[in-house]
Amino acid sequence: MSKEENLKLFTSKTFDQDFKSFEYTPFALYNGDTRLLLKSLKKKFKEPIFDLVITSPPYNIGKEYEDDLSEEEYIALHTDIITEALPMIKNTGSICWQVGFQVNKTGRSSSILPLDFLYHELFMKIAKKLEIPLKLKNRIIWRFGHGGMAKTRFSGRYEVVLWYTVSDDYTFNLQEIGEQQKYPGKRSSRTGEISGNFLGKNPEDVWDFKETIWDIPNVKSHHPEKTIHPCQFPIELIQRLTLGLTNKGDLVFDPYAGVHSAGCAAALLDRKYIGGELDNDYSTKGLKRVEEAIARKLLYREAKGVMDPRESEFSVMPDAWIRMSAKHLLKAYGSPEKVFKYLKQFPKDKKQ
Ligand SMILES: C[S@@+](CC[C@H](N)C(=O)[O-])C[C@H]1O[C@@H](n2cnc3c(N)ncnc32)[C@H](O)[C@@H]1O
Repeated sequence: MSKEENLKLFTSKTFDQDFKSFEYTPFALYNGDTRLLLKSLKKKFKEPIFDLVITSPPYNIGKEYEDDLSEEEYIALHTDIITEALPMIKNTGSICWQVGFQVNKTGRSSSILPLDFLYHELFMKIAKKLEIPLKLKNRIIWRFGHGGMAKTRFSGRYEVVLWYTVSDDYTFNLQEIGEQQKYPGKRSSRTGEISGNFLGKNPEDVWDFKETIWDIPNVKSHHPEKTIHPCQFPIELIQRLTLGLTNKGDLVFDPYAGVHSAGCAAALLDRKYIGGELDNDYSTKGLKRVEEAIARKLLYREAKGVMDPRESEFSVMPDAWIRMSAKHLLKAYGSPEKVFKYLKQFPKDKKQ
């Protein structure tokens, strides 16, 4: 398949005319208003097509890509997009909405609005109207170590991801997103057997900067993923959600795509992708990034293991796990190279 067929940047005009299918163009980038994109998709597909809708919407806080919208206009934009997107999510699919805070005014007269308050109400209202049994599964806290220093309140160091499903048949690949065990050598006091899961412990809803393998800083000036966009979300964060909530070949949709970080994650994980972005420069940059991700040449920050500083005998990876589980690891990680990379993060068992 030629590059043009595999990955293409459309406008509202060319999308209507030229887009054939996601089999033909698995990476379809749309430079235009996502409201129009959703209308075109609705005309082209009669059945739900999205396996995962994942985005970080504009916060309406005066960023360079934001028009200064009134509260009503802001809600109207998102109401339109959510109302069109929700019915296009498959039964097994999910929606992940990553948001922070609106900060009104500065100094002592400032106040904050956690955007998840606003969005949750909006999602439930729209779902009720559409008769979609939307369920909030997690409100994930993404904590990061850097940011502005507030002088009149505590400095903000987290944002949230609202994860919703549209039925109880949702995809959840727990084995793909296990977190590094703090004490992989821990044994059951009853049987003496190693008691943890060699594929990692079940992931928690606080994605912590310091304590787990999911060490995810935000994309600021020295981050390798930094582009012209002022508010990218880190590829690692979307990769984790994409791995956990979709399967290979599934279709990921980002309605506010920016420089198409979600498209990069989809390409790196062999998923298909469609994303809508108004701005021409971000779209062009996004095209280049997704192209690099497809060619495995994209510069991005990969998840790295965090060693347990306590160095107890339980903190080391048991050799038995490594030997006994090789077949399972291969199945879970797909290639010996990936298994080696996974295993490299564990310290050697000192007793052997
Ligand atoms: C918070 S940014 C998303 C950044 C993105 N997650 C990334 O990693 O690059 C929100 C984006 O939504 C875009 N946007 C706002 N309204 C839009 C609309 N109606 N249709 C398409 N894109 C829109 C803005 O131009 C902005 O780039």
